[in-house]
Order: sequence, then structure tokens, then C-alpha cells
Amino acid sequence: MFLEERRNNILDYLDKYERVSVAYLATSFAVTKETIRSDLNVLAQLGLVQRCHGGAIVIRRSLQAKLITETDGTFEVLLRRLESQKRKVPERGKNMRGKVCILGSFNVDIVARVARFPKGGESLLALGSTLGPGGKGANQAMAASRAGAQVHFVSKVGKDQFSQFAFDHLSSSEIHSFTLYQSETEPTGNAIIYVSQQDGENMIAIYSGANKTITDEEVTAIAPELAGADVLLLQLENNFNATLNAMKLANALGIRVILNPAPYSADALQCLEYVDVITPNETEASLLSGVEVTDLNSAREAAQRIAGLGARRVIITMGARGAMILEGSQFQHIPAFPALSVDTTGAGDAFNGAFAAAIATGQTIAQAATYAAAFASLAVEREGASNMPQHQQVVARLSQR
Ligand code: RIB
Repeated sequence: MFLEERRNNILDYLDKYERVSVAYLATSFAVTKETIRSDLNVLAQLGLVQRCHGGAIVIRRSLQAKLITETDGTFEVLLRRLESQKRKVPERGKNMRGKVCILGSFNVDIVARVARFPKGGESLLALGSTLGPGGKGANQAMAASRAGAQVHFVSKVGKDQFSQFAFDHLSSSEIHSFTLYQSETEPTGNAIIYVSQQDGENMIAIYSGANKTITDEEVTAIAPELAGADVLLLQLENNFNATLNAMKLANALGIRVILNPAPYSADALQCLEYVDVITPNETEASLLSGVEVTDLNSAREAAQRIAGLGARRVIITMGARGAMILEGSQFQHIPAFPALSVDTTGAGDAFNGAFAAAIATGQTIAQAATYAAAFASLAVEREGASNMPQHQQVVARLSQR
């Protein structure tokens, strides 16, 4: 194998696994450790890898990692530098495992399963109750991971009994890596959820807590992870400034941005210029567009209005009615997959996580939305917002169509 091919193979390996030892590479390529060390030194000089202590392990770092240290973490300075580096960000091949960076919330979900929703002032006995991991960001990170993406999840919790719970959940999950900040002042976010036994519908009250305290410095610090991603996926459960800055950073790095504007906030309208795909559900689309979405025709009209406000691509998710895509001037309706719904909590998260994972592998919007619709149809058949199906189950459901 020629030297250049070997070095490219080393970079490919690091793209996939992030770490490698000199000994492993020497054995794999049937060369001496000295040869590998010299390869790694050259790659390090080019800014493509970082040597670790002892020289036995390397971590692939992008050029942006260096930029961050040089800018002392100042967000605006970093943005300007990255803009000038934009074209140097490598395009990813279509067949690689997609990399998705997700900035979003972690909540503790306290769920009561009820025969029906209680009325105001009424006390109702619940049929069952659970306490588990949730938050749109964390749920989407689970979904994207199960859909096969290599996910880096960024979130913030408090310094309370639930922060360890968050850490344990994330570290024992299939999520590849995460950055978990801790707030000194705000508690871990939580959500009180009713799930109706009648049809699996839900009602949710969210206390965002620490999710709303992500600082500029904390966003700046994730630039290396972002630089290695194909897609950035965000929602609206964090302080909007952090969400907006992460989008700006992704734009500066040439990384696609998917915004799930949930829960609805008019803030979403401020950031459409940075977003490649916006994915409101019927309620959010109605609020964003001023058109009440009740059927496919009104969904088309709402999507058109949202595009008129500056969105490049719109996907309106409509549960059993499927999803409406608007790309350029083309509409496409993706029918829903039939499902036996027991809990719709997190259905949107399932769709968004799976969609981002599919987009990150190079699928078209329509292909990715079809995959995501199949994924979400399986998610509503399971209890718990973060309880996501496996990729193989999705493949089986897709093959039934
Ligand atoms: O989308 C469902 C999620 O919304 C729940 O897990 C809850 O925490 C809220 O963020």
C-alpha cells in the first residue's frame, strides 16, 4: 500500500472510530510503529489529527479545534475565522455512517397513564406512573442513534439528584458521545406528562430549568464536534440565543441545519435563514404560518407560507396523515405507516432524529422522510418518549409498504 493511501485509510478509520493506537495501525498495515508514528506526525502537522500523550493514541481533530483555542472561545471571533475556513470542510461520502450533532434538552419525564385527561380542578386516579429520561433533544439523540447515526449530544442539566440520572442514562445509551454541562443555579429540566389510555394522546407541561442556561462559551466549545458532523439538529427547548449561535456556527462550518420548532415559539421565525429544513408539526405549522392545518390542502398552504417567510425546505408532520414536504416549488406527500398507537409522546422526536440520521447518510429529503415516518410509526407503539425502535424493525416496516 502506498504512503498516501495508508494515510487516507488512517483518516478514514479515525473518522469512524475517533481513536486509534499506533500498535493497531502498525499491525493492520503491516508496517513498523516508526512508519505509523511518522504518518501521524505528518497528519498532525497538517492539523488533521492530534497526537496524545505517549504517541500511542491519536484523536482526529478538525482544523476548527485549533481555531477555537486561538480565539479564546470568543464566539464572534470564532465565527469570523470559521467563515474564512468554510471551503476547507471536507464533503462526506454518501455511504459512511452519518454523523449528527444534536444540541437540545434533557428532561426527567414524570408520566401518568390515565383513562382520560383530567378536567380543571379534578383529581383523577392514574392507571400507572413512570419516571424516565426525556427532553426533545435527548429523545432525538436516542432516535438518531437507533437509526444508525453516530451522534454527539450536547445538553445541560442542574446540580441535583437528576443530573446523575441524566449522566447514567446518556452513558449507558447507544448515543456515541455527549457533552453534558451543569448549571450552578437551575435544576435539571422536567416534564409532567399525561398519556391517555384512549388513544395514546398526551398533554405535557415542561419546566426547562438548566436547559435554558447554555452560554455562548458552552456553544463555542462544541465547535470541534460540530465540525465533524454532517448535520446539526435542534429544537426550541433551550435558551434561543444558544440555539441561534449553534446554527450560525454550523452555517459557518458548512454543516446542514435541521430545526424542529418544538415547542412553538415565534423565535423560530428569526432564524429561518440559517435553517436547511424546518420540521413543524400541525400545531407549530399553524402558528408559524397563520393557516390552520387540518388536512393536506391546508398543509400545502401553510408550508408555502412558511417558505415565504424564508424557510428553504419545509416538512409538516401530521401524525396519521403523514408528512407534507415542500422543497423549492415541489410538494410531496409521504403517507403515514399504519400503527397501533399506545403512546404518542416523543413521536415527533422519533421522526426528527431518524430524519436527521438518514439525511446525514446522504438520503434525499423524501427518502429520509419516508424512513422517519416508518421509524415514528414504530415509536408510537412503545411506551415512553425516549423508547425508540431499532433500525432493523424500521427496515421491516418499510418493506411492508
Ligand atoms: O417530545 C416529548 C418530550 O417533550 C418529552 O420527553 C418531554 O420531556 C418534553 O420535552
